[in-house]
Amino acid sequence: MHTHPAASAQTILSVQGLAKHFEMHHLKRTLHAFDKVDFELREGEFILLTGENGAGKSTLLRTLYRSYLPRSGHAYYHTREGVIDLTVAADVDIALLRHREIGFVTQFLQARPRVAAEELVAEPLRLAGRPYSEAIEEARRWLSAFGVKPGLWAAYPSTFSGGEQQKVNLARALILPQRLLFLDEPTASLDKNARRALVARLAELKAAGVAMIGVFHHPNDVADLIDREISLQTKQIHDGAENVAE
Ligand SMILES: Nc1ncnc2c1ncn2[C@@H]1O[C@H](COP(=O)(O)OP(=O)(O)OP(=O)(O)O)[C@@H](O)[C@H]1O
Ligand SMILES: [Mg+2]
Repeated sequence: MHTHPAASAQTILSVQGLAKHFEMHHLKRTLHAFDKVDFELREGEFILLTGENGAGKSTLLRTLYRSYLPRSGHAYYHTREGVIDLTVAADVDIALLRHREIGFVTQFLQARPRVAAEELVAEPLRLAGRPYSEAIEEARRWLSAFGVKPGLWAAYPSTFSGGEQQKVNLARALILPQRLLFLDEPTASLDKNARRALVARLAELKAAGVAMIGVFHHPNDVADLIDREISLQTKQIHDGAENVAE
């Protein structure tokens, strides 16, 4: 079933004229990762981000997550209290938003030495104030849903296979619903069952009003969730550095 969020759904993100360039100082050239990106995203809406390798998809998501500062443009995020421009917000505000409202899911797990898989997954619930045993129990449910074998739950993920690490990563990233989710090829090395579990979870989050922008290697997996597609064009490299601090 193809679900469209009601036209009355609240805008959650308004992106205006967003551009990100990389200075290639040693070559005296500028790479336009993307230029003049404009779109609106509403609660419960799912945007598929497409484009060839190098078109700037990951860079756009990282810029919206404020891992990069843009060259120009604005990204107005509507919190419950008011509107904040992610391109100029203070680092402390960005940290708070990442903690409570905006999530980023990649294919890579940031394992930490001597932290068990179930504790890594339970951490967002613990930080949100949930009691330990309850958080661990829910973490196990999600590890199980994504197909991580029970024998691995108390083990350290640094030695897990790529696919197993990705499953732990997804369980951790999706255990606590946020309002806005960026997904950068989260299914890259998942088996079919785990992909199905992921899509089911994303559908549940969408129905609960979570807005998402995602890059997917196999967009067919999420065909039923897609409301709109934004396609980035491959950019040329421009001669001459632009002499702008990035
Ligand atoms: N930190 C960086 N410094 C300089 N150039 C960068 C940086 N990050 C990305 N680029 C360049 O910006 C362009 C866009 O990269 P990006 O990773 O956003 O592409 P993508 O659309 O995600 O590609 P893929 O489909 O391969 O993941 C590429 O040409 C890349 O080389
Ligand atoms: Mg990418």
